[in-house]
Amino acid sequence: MSLFSSFLRKKTVFENPVFVDIHSHFIPGIDDGVKTEDESLELLSGLFHLGYKKVVTTPHIYQGVFKNSYETILPGLERMREVLKQNSIGIELEAAAEYFFDDYFLKCIQEENLLTFGDNYVLFELSSNVRPRQLEDAVFELKLKGYKPVLAHPERYNYFHEPKLDSLEKLKGMELLFQMNALALNGFYNNTIMRVARQLIKNEWIDWVGSDMHNMRYLESFRDALEDEYYEKLCATGNLLNNTLIEN
Ligand SMILES: [Fe+2]
Repeated sequence: MSLFSSFLRKKTVFENPVFVDIHSHFIPGIDDGVKTEDESLELLSGLFHLGYKKVVTTPHIYQGVFKNSYETILPGLERMREVLKQNSIGIELEAAAEYFFDDYFLKCIQEENLLTFGDNYVLFELSSNVRPRQLEDAVFELKLKGYKPVLAHPERYNYFHEPKLDSLEKLKGMELLFQMNALALNGFYNNTIMRVARQLIKNEWIDWVGSDMHNMRYLESFRDALEDEYYEKLCATGNLLNNTLIEN
């Protein structure tokens, strides 16, 4: 075999077509994400060098655990924008939140006082072990009020790990958007989560993909995940909305 034909036979390296990340914890010291500006800078530089142009970072808002609001998030955002500028990292940084599904979140929905990104998208997460009874009502209410609810990492909740993913299918039927963590694809969490994530991709149910990065431990695995064949399949579905945050 000639050198040329062996070159042609070599698998083309997959290039990540996604250049907007919508789930991360990059505001220092306000949740279980990065602790310092340097750590935040290192992760944001990492994403920048992976081709990312924009990051919507999403600190936890979780009553009694991470009591965040505009008041804690926005000053941190301004500071990190400054740090990026000083270090010539040309990545656009915005902030929204990852709401935990609790009474406080339900109250914010009622008061229409939610931190959103893009076209009124709201990112929220659930308890990993206990399915909230009011989930469908809250999704309905969010939509009624003009929000576009996005469920963070649907692959990670134990009670949704049914053989046919019936509950998730019902939620899709309510036009709840699903955001997968890319890290689910290379076993960063566990094998069940990886299997469910793959199935969600096969079903073409994923609307957003995110890094959900909290610290340096995530960065290397995230790079690997972007080369996973299922990540490639996810991009090929054509359903991902990430880049619309720049194109529109
Ligand atoms: Fe998160």
